[in-house]
Amino acid sequence: MRSTRGFRPQAAGRRARAAPIVLLALLAAGCAAAAAPTAAPTAAPRAERRALDWKTIIPPGPPMEQVQGTDITIRNISTHAVAYSVEPADGTGASRRHVLEPGAIDRFPAPGDVHIGFESKKGTQGYRLVPGASYLFRYEERDGASLNEGSHGRADAADLGPFVPTPPEVVEKMLEAAELTDKDVFFDLGCGDGRIVIAAAQRYGCRGVGIDLDPKLVEESRRNAERAGVARLVEFRAGDATKADLTGATAVTLYLLPESNEALRPLLEKQLAPGARIVCHDYGIRGWEGRETRSITLVAGDGKKHYIYVYRR
Ligand SMILES: C[S@@+](CC[C@H](N)C(=O)[O-])C[C@H]1O[C@@H](n2cnc3c(N)ncnc32)[C@H](O)[C@@H]1O
Repeated sequence: MRSTRGFRPQAAGRRARAAPIVLLALLAAGCAAAAAPTAAPTAAPRAERRALDWKTIIPPGPPMEQVQGTDITIRNISTHAVAYSVEPADGTGASRRHVLEPGAIDRFPAPGDVHIGFESKKGTQGYRLVPGASYLFRYEERDGASLNEGSHGRADAADLGPFVPTPPEVVEKMLEAAELTDKDVFFDLGCGDGRIVIAAAQRYGCRGVGIDLDPKLVEESRRNAERAGVARLVEFRAGDATKADLTGATAVTLYLLPESNEALRPLLEKQLAPGARIVCHDYGIRGWEGRETRSITLVAGDGKKHYIYVYRR
């Protein structure tokens, strides 16, 4: 089972190499629509970066080995260009500067850990990256650029966010909010270990489809469905959710980064029939403010506040 660390960014993390850290947490509802691009920030000079208190980002789960090897992948999912410098963390190699345009991917071989430095509105940021991992640049109007865990290094698919499971009490509330019956066909886009689709089939007897890019998670979901006795009601597909066929879906759940929800909006608008319910965990759908029918806040067993946004197509 993979790490269950929070999906929400916490600006900084622990500093030890072995300690998992950070990430950013985004403030869901409050996530303002992306603003117009600004000039790319300048990465800190080498000498200044040497003095940084390097923070380590360790991804929540093992990478999808078959696509990543030891390459480090950095993707810019924001609408702002980000300038940064990378260099071997042991100080032996040259520093490389790069400007990553919106939507672009930087992938480079990493025999060992790598330091990355960039400017954000909170000042110069320094992180230690680990071989084989993937990372995302996001951008918030208040804080500027931030570096986050990614989920995979594939260039042919969107990275909608790393695997962080929804706590059971939140799953329960999301399903209640979706007003499911046994007539529904329910989809979870980026389904992780399949828990939401499986719970929907168990509680409401509805058919369900889970889609995840990670084939290992899809396998795990199938095993979990067998164990839960609902395999005949559910189906798990390995693939990119941004290219999903949602034919027949009457309800959809999302627990993805704010940018990812926004990227999926055209698909939901095109494929879902009027009346379909869309329930999001922690981050709403930018541009759908007028469609929101309800929002719920609850504190789950992990002691954190969770937000649920309900929309009707
Ligand atoms: C935050 S987890 C949510 C898991 C599950 N829905 C839940 O709430 O417990 C996001 C999931 O999206 C998956 N993912 C990332 N990019 C994807 C893509 N392009 N297509 C499908 N799944 C993707 C990740 O593998 C991860 O399992």
